[in-house]
Amino acid sequence: MKEQLNSIQQKALDEIKNAVDIKTVDDLKVRLLGKKGELTAILKQMGQLSAEERPVIGQLANQVRECIENDIGRKKEQLKALETERKLKKETLDVTLPGRKLEQGRRHPLNIVLDDLKEIFKGMGYSVVDGPEVEKTEYVFDMLNTDEGHPARDPSDTFYITDKIILRTQTSSVQIRTMLANKPPIAVISPGRVYRNDEMDATHSPIFHQCEGLVVDKNITFSDLKGTIEVFAKRLYGNDIKIRFRPHHFPFTEPSAEADFRCFKCGGKGCPLCKGEGWIEMLGCGVVHPQVLLNCGIDPEIYSGFAFGMGLERVAMMRYGIDNMRLLYENDLRFLKQF
Ligand code: DAH
Repeated sequence: MKEQLNSIQQKALDEIKNAVDIKTVDDLKVRLLGKKGELTAILKQMGQLSAEERPVIGQLANQVRECIENDIGRKKEQLKALETERKLKKETLDVTLPGRKLEQGRRHPLNIVLDDLKEIFKGMGYSVVDGPEVEKTEYVFDMLNTDEGHPARDPSDTFYITDKIILRTQTSSVQIRTMLANKPPIAVISPGRVYRNDEMDATHSPIFHQCEGLVVDKNITFSDLKGTIEVFAKRLYGNDIKIRFRPHHFPFTEPSAEADFRCFKCGGKGCPLCKGEGWIEMLGCGVVHPQVLLNCGIDPEIYSGFAFGMGLERVAMMRYGIDNMRLLYENDLRFLKQF
């Protein structure tokens, strides 16, 4: 039995020595010292020994157990240290690597222009309101005094979803929504996306942006409109800007006008930006047609108003001298980084 114990010890120490990871060591411990382990199996045979042999073998067995336990403990410490060292090596930082640059985004030119516009009009007491892009023909056309058969309603210009639902072709529909929901005094602007069945080219896009304006109160006249547009133009382009109004026709205003701004590139001499005109058409506007007020339950004998609408792309293109509208939608960073 003595030899058996010695050989168990020797074999155990060899196996422990050769173990390469903690799991192997743990398994060894169970196999050698566990309830069903080799050492326990031998101790179970102690009953067969004589009275003199028993204490001797018992002592030896304890020594063997202790020796194996100690060895296992040492080995585990060793393996743990190795593991930590390996981890540390793997996680070292290479402080010589160049850092990763955080790209800073910036506002799109359309948003810059829109934010400026909002600031300018908020400064004059306007609120900013929103309206749906999928809209009733009733609000885009009928209630804006635009009858069946008007060319603006033609399916070759307008994306129809059903007979009575379209993608709005103008933000003017928000005028109706605003007047149906609010009593005068009203002073709102409403920027947003509009849709027209146009091919994309340097000055057209099937999706573009407009900003609508509407003021309704007592004693509102065309002079209020002119003054407002002049203040707006000066805030946006500086005090030297000149503006002019040309008579025009819109179904929902009477009288109606288009406002041109003096070309800020050439100062009016004529250049490619203004196509030699010296003036750039910026917006449509007019005094709200009495029928439109009536349609929204507002008494035109008591109240009057003015309205205007402009294309944001145009404002941005004129402001920054951009000659192709496509640039605004292509998301080319070389272009966008210039603003
Ligand atoms: N909605 C017009 C367009 O898309 C622009 C416009 C003209 C808006 C006159 C108005 C207005 O509010 O009074 O061309």
